[in-house]
Amino acid sequence: MARHDQYREEVAGRANVEDTPELLAYYSDLEKKGAAALWTVANKIEPWEPVSQSVPMIWRYGDLRDDVLRSVELVTPEKAGRRVIYLDNPGRSDVAAAVGWIYAGLQVMHPGERASAHRHSASAIRFIMEGQGAYTVVDGHKMTLGVNDFVLTPNGTWHEHAVDEAGTPCIWQDGLDIPFVNAMEANFYEVHPDLAQAVTYPVDDVTRTWGNPGLTPGGGAWDKDYSPLFKYEWDRTYEALSGLAQARDGSPFDGLLMEYVNPVTNGPVMQTLGASMQMLRPGEKTKAHRHTGSYLYQVCKGSGHSVINGKRFDWTERDIFCVPSWAWHEHANGSAREDACLFCLSDLPVMRALGLYREEAFGDNGGQQPVTA
Ligand SMILES: [Fe+2]
Ligand SMILES: [Fe+2]
Repeated sequence: MARHDQYREEVAGRANVEDTPELLAYYSDLEKKGAAALWTVANKIEPWEPVSQSVPMIWRYGDLRDDVLRSVELVTPEKAGRRVIYLDNPGRSDVAAAVGWIYAGLQVMHPGERASAHRHSASAIRFIMEGQGAYTVVDGHKMTLGVNDFVLTPNGTWHEHAVDEAGTPCIWQDGLDIPFVNAMEANFYEVHPDLAQAVTYPVDDVTRTWGNPGLTPGGGAWDKDYSPLFKYEWDRTYEALSGLAQARDGSPFDGLLMEYVNPVTNGPVMQTLGASMQMLRPGEKTKAHRHTGSYLYQVCKGSGHSVINGKRFDWTERDIFCVPSWAWHEHANGSAREDACLFCLSDLPVMRALGLYREEAFGDNGGQQPVTA
C-alpha cells in the first residue's frame, strides 16, 4: 500500500490492524468455520477508487493476422466449434477477457464455410475486419456484411456465421459479454437441432425496415430488449460522422463521437454491450479523461496514438487496444491530412443502467498526460 493511502486509511478510520500471534490464531479459527474478519480484506474489496485488473494493451493486426489465418490449416470449424483466436489480457486470463468483463476474439472463415447455428445467454457483435461475402443469420434474418460493418447476435437469438462461395477469406472481431454473464453465473449455450436455421425474411430486411434515419415503420411493434436493427453499416456511419464534423465541434475528450443505438428506444444496441464510432479530425489530439467501464477499440481508419495511464500506444488500421476502467486516456490522430476512426465496444450500458458510471477530466498539464512509457 502506498504511504499516502496508509495515512488516508488511518485518519479515515479504515482497516489498519497489525498481525499479532493472537489475531493470526483467531483468523485461523474463523477460517475453519467458513468465516473471516472483514478488516483483513476491507481495504482491498472496497478501494478508494476502481482498481482495474486489466492491463492497458494493444493487439497489432500485423502481428496476429498470419496466426489467425494459420488456424484454418490447423483445425476445422466443425472440430473447433468456433475457430477463434481470442485476445488474452494478462490481468484477466482467469476469465478469458480482453478487458474488464469483455471477451474478444479474431475469427477467420473461408468462402463456402458455415458455422453451425447456436444460441447462448452471452450477447455478441461480429465486426468485419477484412474480406467479402460474409453474412450472418439471426433469428431468420440474413444480413450481408462488409468491412467495418457489424452485426448483433443478442442474448438468446439463434445465429450462424458464414461466407458466400463467391466471397474471399473473411476475418472479423467477435466481442461478447461472456466473462460478465459467467460472473453472473447465468450462461446457457445451445446448438440448433438442425445445425442451421431457415432464412425467413428477405435478405437485409432489418436495415430496410429499421435503418432509416428519422423514420420508424408503421405497425412495427418491437418488444425485445435489444435493437431490431441487427446490422450497422460503415458507409452510413462514416457519412453521419462526416456530416457531424460540419455541424459540431465535438468533445475535447472524444472528438466527434456517435453512439450506435436501438432505433426503438434510442438506448444502447444491447443490454450489456454498447458500441460507438469516433472520428479524430486531421491532427486532432484529445484531452485526457477517465471514466468507469471497460473499452475495446478497433482502428477502422487512419493511424495515430493513444496515451493510456501515461503509456503511449501507436496504432494503425485494424489494430485493437483496450482502455480499462478508470484509466486515464487520450487519443491523437497522427495524420495532418486524413481523419482517423475508432470503433469502440464497451460495457457502458451496464455501467449506466446500474448507476456506476463516473467520469473525470485530467486537470494538470493542459489536459494532457505526461508520457512515462
Ligand atoms: Fe455465438
Ligand atoms: Fe473516454
